[in-house]
Amino acid sequence: MNFKIAGTGSATPQLAVSNADLARFVETDDEWVTSRTGISTRHVLSTETLTELAVSAARRALAAAGLAAGELDLIIGATTKHDYQVPSLACVVQGELGVAGAPAFDVNFGCTGFIGALDVASQYFATGRASAALIICAEALTRYVDWTDRATCVLFGDGAAAVVLTPGDSLRAVCLHAQGNPAPLHALAPSGNSPYDQHPAQHPCIEMNGREVFKFAVTNMCNDLADVLAQAKLRPADIDYFLVHQANKRIIEAARERLAQPAEKFPTNIERYGNTSAVSVPLLLDELVRAGTITPGSLLACAAFGAGLISGAMVLKWEGQTL
Ligand code: ACO
Repeated sequence: MNFKIAGTGSATPQLAVSNADLARFVETDDEWVTSRTGISTRHVLSTETLTELAVSAARRALAAAGLAAGELDLIIGATTKHDYQVPSLACVVQGELGVAGAPAFDVNFGCTGFIGALDVASQYFATGRASAALIICAEALTRYVDWTDRATCVLFGDGAAAVVLTPGDSLRAVCLHAQGNPAPLHALAPSGNSPYDQHPAQHPCIEMNGREVFKFAVTNMCNDLADVLAQAKLRPADIDYFLVHQANKRIIEAARERLAQPAEKFPTNIERYGNTSAVSVPLLLDELVRAGTITPGSLLACAAFGAGLISGAMVLKWEGQTL
């Protein structure tokens, strides 16, 4: 016995920023951003905190699962940037939910955070150490993009998405791969003010070689999906929906064409949210579940890629939630 996803939830900032809004302060235009990325708007933190969004997403997932926060025996955060350097997102959310006791920690798999966190949680379920887990993904990427760099600031958005796991048999296959190589995609940690530090001050913003990441993304997403489909003894045609990292619509299209699947099996929301890193797959999942698109018995293949460079994929059979 492993896990099933018993409930999902999400929350995004109120402020939606359009491509035209960005064109007021960086040299870009709606046509370039839409045609190269598929992004029309992204949601950006302004008055709210990321913690508030994370707690809302967690509460919605708990309500959908019909579970009280006090029943959780494991909390895993997946984030690359939240309101604190320490403590972890998981501990901050745990405190806001008013529960203590269960282990709470973060994982950093970059944009592959949701799949990585589910893989870690599955070990707890497999060994009987967890029976009610909260996975909370939350990202404040707009706080570490360089808003003067048009090549990156148009790509990212903020948000939070959560799932609650209970015992079940949803997980059919998983793979995770890392190629330790920070160069193509990284954000350096901010420098402190140590009087002993001999290094120049860091530029703590996202820096990316877009073309290199693009090639890595298409190749690895396809390889990972082939891997998990083979593990689960399924063909691409058997999958109802491919929920893949919403980083660039052209990457999603390239993967879809290689797998020769119809567009409706690759749902997207990148148009509205941009790239929300670890949040992107669970945010899409929550929208599709609440819209009634994903129904009990649906077979889902999830795939993601990002900083590390890390990539991973997973096949899940949807067992349903109570809304
Ligand atoms: N507006 C207008 N022009 C722009 C912009 C912009 N916002 N950004 C770049 N350009 C220009 C460049 O300066 C360049 O001009 P030049 O030809 O005069 O030098 C031209 O557009 C082409 O630039 P490229 O970088 O080659 O454009 P490309 O087609 O590769 O698209 C992009 C760039 C969108 C970043 C693409 O490479 C991509 O999506 N890569 C993958 C990135 C990704 O997935 N990252 C996320 C994964 S990890 C994570 O989620 C944290």
